[in-house]
Parts: sequence; structure tokens; C-alpha cells
Amino acid sequence: MRYSFVTSLLAGASIVLGSPIEKRAEYAMGFNAPPGGDVTILNYALTLEYLERKFYQEGLANYTQAQFIEAGFPDPFYKNLKEIYYDEQTHVSFLSGALTAAKAQPVTEAKYSFPSTDVKSFVTLASVLEGVGVSAYLGAAQAIANKAYLTVAGSILTVESRHSSYIRASLAQSPFPKPFDTPLDFNQVFSLAAQFITGFAPNDPTISPPFKAFPALKLEASRYAYTAGSSPVTFSGAMKNGVKAGLITADTPVYAVFFSGLDTYYVKVRTTRGDAGDFKIDMIPKGAVGQVYVVLSTADGEAAKVSDANTLSGVGILEVVQ
Ligand SMILES: *[C@@H]1O[C@H](CO)[C@@H](O)[C@H](O)[C@H]1NC(C)=O
Repeated sequence: MRYSFVTSLLAGASIVLGSPIEKRAEYAMGFNAPPGGDVTILNYALTLEYLERKFYQEGLANYTQAQFIEAGFPDPFYKNLKEIYYDEQTHVSFLSGALTAAKAQPVTEAKYSFPSTDVKSFVTLASVLEGVGVSAYLGAAQAIANKAYLTVAGSILTVESRHSSYIRASLAQSPFPKPFDTPLDFNQVFSLAAQFITGFAPNDPTISPPFKAFPALKLEASRYAYTAGSSPVTFSGAMKNGVKAGLITADTPVYAVFFSGLDTYYVKVRTTRGDAGDFKIDMIPKGAVGQVYVVLSTADGEAAKVSDANTLSGVGILEVVQ
């Protein structure tokens, strides 16, 4: 049993290495178990934990306790950040140990780059990353075969969600904006993580995950806080990129698909006039609140549901107030 984990992991890796150009449909795995099963999922979790650990390690090295206080994050915020760092570090060692115990090879740490430049942008990004962590563990849950791993994943998930609430509250965001959290699938999370990954360790066959990053979705900066049921959103360059990549033509109906809690909202985009010809929606759906995820898709929610196969780009993240 143990050995079959390893074999299937390697099989999964060689599929990716052997055929770099994959058809979109082959990645329509969504929430199903990926090739390699639990080993791939543990390595997926480990990749996210590495990312979080590195992020807090840099943040704690970059900014002093006094700078946090000055930026409006009074004690014991700094001490609690150290505690979060310690948790992420412990998750890394635990998951590596679990993989080794299963006779599988843990992935090596990638190289990361974060866009935060000061305390405020660091804490804002921390909030986003913790939210993504929650969504990642939640989305992976149904693909985990071994119930013992499921309990472990659950016990990490609840701690990530506590980090998330604490950091959200420190930013005066609602600590628990909805009665349900939002599951994201493997490729959606990988797309988000990939934005911070600048390189994998060379010549390491275990690091080619069987996941795919969608083309990034850029939201035009908004001067106002996003509000459910009222704010517009413009997706910069998405139309041009989609046409250029041959995924759509200028006439293809495209939908902005919002994920919030267990709800999915489809909003048909319109195209703005002028050279830019950007996709735009006039109103974030009522009910999409908190850390809301959005992808562009050709699915309308009726004839077809959103899936990896019909996702054009994503994942965008919006913080939306009620
Ligand atoms: C820490 O500072 C370095 C150098 O300025 C910067 O490149 C990096 O993004 C910062 N990291 C974080 C998490 O803020």
C-alpha cells in the first residue's frame, strides 16, 4: 500500500514531465483526487505551508515590533505573528514527516517572492494567504482517501482559520464574514500560489505537481472598498489575453464566476468601449462577502457549471464588505 503511493506519485510526475503541453480537459479534475492521491495532496499542503512559513519568516525579519505598533498593530500582535510563524513551521515539519513515514519523498521548498513592501501590505497579504490556506484545505478534504490524514488536515484547517480570523480582525475586516468558508479546487489554489513562486529546485522530479495554473486574472484597482450588491469590477486585459490565447473570440459569452462560502454566482460580463475593450461587471453579487474569489469562465451556470476545463483565467481575490 505504502509503495503504491510512491509509484503513483512518480507516475503522476512523469506524466507531467513527459508531456509539457497538456490539453485543458485533462485538468478538469476539480475536487477529485489528483494523480498520486494522498501523497500528492500532502505535498500540495506542504507546498502551501512552505509558502506561508517563508512569508512570515521574511515579514518577521523585515519589520520590527516597533514598526508593527507604529503601523497600528499594537502588542501582542507581533508576539502572535511569531506564534503563527511557529505554527506554519510545525505544519511543514509535520507534513514532511508524514510523507517520509509513508515512504514518499516530500517536495523541496520552492523560491518565493512576495509583493509586500511595508507592515500594512504585509498584514493585508497575510490575511489573503491565510484565507487561501483555509480554502485549500477545505477543497482538498473530499479528495483525501486516508481518514487519519483527513483528521490531521482538519486540525490544520481549523488553526489556519483561526489565524485568518485574527488577522482579519486586526485589519478591521469581519473576522467571520459568512456562515460557510469557501472551498477552492487544486488548480485554483495552485494558480494563486504560483503567483508567488519564482522557481522550483532544479532537477527535483518530485516538484512537478500535477496541477495547472490558469492565466492570471487582474482586477483593475478600485478606489472604493468593494461592496456586495453594488460595486463594479473591471478585469484588466482579460479579454485581449483570452482572444490572443485562442480560448475565446470577441463574441464568446463570458461569465465572472464568484465563489463565496458554498455559493457560486455567475455574472455575464460586458465589454467596455474603447481600445482596452476590458471585461466588466456592474455589480458584485449580493451575498458574495468576505474574501471572495472570482474566475472568468465560459460557463453560464445553467447549461454548464464552472469547472477547470471552462475556466479562462483566475483566480482573482476581492475583499468585499456587506
Ligand atoms: C522583505 O524585504 C525584502 C527586501 O526588501 C522584500 O523583497 C520582501 O518582499 C519582503 N518580504 C515580505 C514578506 O514583506
